[in-house]
Amino acid sequence: MSKERITFATKLGVVAATVGSAVGLGNIWRFPYETGQNGGGAFLLVYIACVLLLGIPVMTTEFSIGRASRSDANGAFKKLSPGTKWHYVGFLGIFASVFILGYYMVVAGWTAEYLYQSLTGGLLNKTPEDFRAELTAFTQSDYRPLIWVYLFILFNFLIISRGVQKGIEKASNFLMPLLFLIMLVFCIRSLFLHGAPEGLQYLFNPDFSKITPQVVLRAMGQAFFSMSLGMGILLTYGSYFRKNTSLVKTAGTVSLLDMVVAVLAGVIIFPAVFSFGISPSQGPELVFVTLPNIFGKMPAPVLWSSLFFLLLSVAALTSTISLCEVAVAFFIEQMKFTRRKATLLLTSIVFVLSTLCSLSSGSLSGVSIFGKNIFDFCDYISANILLPVSALLITVYAGWVLDRRILKDQLNNGGTLRVWYMRPLLFCIRYLAPVVITLIFLSGLGMF
Ligand code: PHE
Repeated sequence: MSKERITFATKLGVVAATVGSAVGLGNIWRFPYETGQNGGGAFLLVYIACVLLLGIPVMTTEFSIGRASRSDANGAFKKLSPGTKWHYVGFLGIFASVFILGYYMVVAGWTAEYLYQSLTGGLLNKTPEDFRAELTAFTQSDYRPLIWVYLFILFNFLIISRGVQKGIEKASNFLMPLLFLIMLVFCIRSLFLHGAPEGLQYLFNPDFSKITPQVVLRAMGQAFFSMSLGMGILLTYGSYFRKNTSLVKTAGTVSLLDMVVAVLAGVIIFPAVFSFGISPSQGPELVFVTLPNIFGKMPAPVLWSSLFFLLLSVAALTSTISLCEVAVAFFIEQMKFTRRKATLLLTSIVFVLSTLCSLSSGSLSGVSIFGKNIFDFCDYISANILLPVSALLITVYAGWVLDRRILKDQLNNGGTLRVWYMRPLLFCIRYLAPVVITLIFLSGLGMF
């Protein structure tokens, strides 16, 4: 069975792939608009607290369960706690990842369209109003976005059905630092815009009156989404980690890089938002309207905007692959499918779901589930409901059900690492994370 599972060739590859999963549209597309819709600096502060106090402990826990079991998201619980119902937690993660894939593929498709437009000069000489109008026309059209979505799904199919090994690992090693570098350049450019002081003020100056239970829930949802938590992804990747990899150090590195990319995205976007008179709370279109504006003001706009949307597409791709891999690993290991069959099944499901999500801006815009269109529903239910619930169950499992020696063994690598943070970390896993996640979750849903 383990022969069917992909394995990473190197330790660096494992980290790069994990960062590849974490850094994606969540950082560059979702974080800025969530910040814009939820109070700017206040949101950022709550977000950082969520990463440090909840995200890192949950990430370490997922790695531990994965490495201790060396199994897929569902199989891990069967192996560590046979005969119990805990393996359903794995199902929750698999469900969440499929829901996310539904709309993530759609946005990934948008990035591909913008790459195409950049390369063909379609983004040149336009005003902010033009960009806004064109984006609306594009997303509301039925077939134009779908072409790109299907192309993206095909890419995923091709890569995953062949195994993730060399392609992803190598691509991650190369593309992630490059993405970082390009972002830095954009950041510097953005700081010279006339709206920079206002933009930075908006991002870094917290207005505490903006913090409501809803905002805290959304910040936690954003942190979990961005860190790829609660979906069994990190659990699955953790099962490929080497014996001597420090789980806490890896979690710290991945989280830090992920947070830095999100903050950099904010530093790029908000000055532009205020310079071009766009509302910071405009929502999911934010990146697609503000960034093309900055590119237009730079020398060699075609080059920069092509490069940026290429990298955004690639960042999306390394994330979608990790999302797909959770379910594919489950189909292979638990249902004994071949990798090809498993990939075909998953991509068919994603095909249907993302078609619905894409059409929800066009012909299906009248369809609403709990007052949200299909796209927003998939986003809300996965990030704000499935992820927190699944993350909560994972910490309860690791803190209270799993044999403490197994967890400690994972955290200190069988006693070979000196781990001064063992007590605070165990405290976070056992008490802080479960209690805080529950409180935020219930109050965010308006239960009290
Ligand atoms: N973390 C990714 C991002 O920020 C998205 C993602 C979510 C990937 C969940 C895998 C799992 O874009």
